[in-house]
Amino acid sequence: MKPCIALTKGRVEKQFLDYFKALDYDVEPLINKGRKLRVETEEFQFVFAKGVDVTTYVEHGIADLGIVGEDILAEFKPDVYSLLPLPFGHCRMAVAVEKGKEWPNRKRRIASKYTNITKEYFRQKGESVDIFKLEGSVELAPILGLADGIVDIVETGTTLKENGLVVKEEFHQYSARLIANRSSLKIKRDVLAPVIEKFQKGETVS
Ligand code: PRP
Repeated sequence: MKPCIALTKGRVEKQFLDYFKALDYDVEPLINKGRKLRVETEEFQFVFAKGVDVTTYVEHGIADLGIVGEDILAEFKPDVYSLLPLPFGHCRMAVAVEKGKEWPNRKRRIASKYTNITKEYFRQKGESVDIFKLEGSVELAPILGLADGIVDIVETGTTLKENGLVVKEEFHQYSARLIANRSSLKIKRDVLAPVIEKFQKGETVS
């Protein structure tokens, strides 16, 4: 049976396709997949999911390998092998605030999709904050008055800029990573080892 790779939909997906093509793998079925969530290529079965769900499919052995942002691994700490960094999906984790607005001198309110990372960051700074969990479009929170600032990933900076926010502090740099199910690595070693090796060699492909 072909190995199964769970791939994060969206931005990482697009960058992965270029990378995968550069490694000389067949990408045609992936490019022309339309809205399909499962696609087979010559060598692999692919499933497309949100980042956090990619880790769930890999953790439970439904997918042997996964392509996911390191931000997701840092936030949810899934029980998977984090094999290697990939040369795409680069972003920073940052605190951002409304441009020109004072950082208030009281207990601050922070909105984020990444509540664990946020909690840990402010704990290390010795600052107690109120954290509001949002699922997306977190840039809205300071604009609408829900929070004083946000903790979120910044890739190009366009979303912040177009919403009148600026980076106050940056504190982690991430990339996409190749992850693997722990038992698959043992049971399907013969099939997976050459693939992982190819990814290792391709680490520098940009
Ligand atoms: C992420 C992140 C920012 C944006 C940053 O959101 O949460 O909103 O990308 O990227 P940029 O610096 O290149 O503008 P995503 O697009 O994943 O959507 P979401 O807000 O719905 O989570």
